[in-house]
Amino acid sequence: MISRKQLRQHLELLLNSGIKEIEKSGVDRKEKLQELAIQYAQCSKCDLSQGRTNLVYGEGNPFAKVMIIGEAPGQQEDLKGRPFIGRAGELLTKMLAAIQIQRDEVYITNIAKCRPPANREPTIAERAACLPYLIEQIQIIQPQMFLFLGLVSAQFLLNTNASLGELRKEVQTFMDRPAYVIYHPAALLRNEHLKRPAWEDLQRFQKHYLSLNT
Ligand code: URA
Repeated sequence: MISRKQLRQHLELLLNSGIKEIEKSGVDRKEKLQELAIQYAQCSKCDLSQGRTNLVYGEGNPFAKVMIIGEAPGQQEDLKGRPFIGRAGELLTKMLAAIQIQRDEVYITNIAKCRPPANREPTIAERAACLPYLIEQIQIIQPQMFLFLGLVSAQFLLNTNASLGELRKEVQTFMDRPAYVIYHPAALLRNEHLKRPAWEDLQRFQKHYLSLNT
């Protein structure tokens, strides 16, 4: 059995070699995310808390290479406490499958963790109230890249007023990692004409995703 002295020497060696944070085990990451979801379930930082059934924290692989970030929960998500499980969510699952990515391989969350009334866009104040939760999720999961679904998440996180048409044309950068911006699946459900450009974007994203380290 490793002695306390050996353990301390090992930790000192790691710290002195420039590794400031000891990698958490998969179990730790999963437990940490579960703990935080429970802790924030009672959040009352903004008025959205008053109308919600459940806070929708996020779900997926704690070791996901990509974090997918949508706008805010809808009715189904609010009822079940899970992101992207309504019609747009079903389409998202199909879009991922079309590029050979299983839903449980990625981590999915939203900018706003509670459903806005009548599915309106979350206000800037509501987005900002939730931002620390998102940053914390990113710090725990450490994804290698991002996929932003729609304009709300893209404009907010990239701090820009650029149009989706512009943002999808180039790989963006968020927290020093590549970030792809694609049409929100709800927009694809409303407008058939977006399907072709959305497919092209997904293929570009897939190519990059496949090139990531395992
Ligand atoms: N739309 C979103 O942006 N997020 C969800 O979780 C569901 C629908």
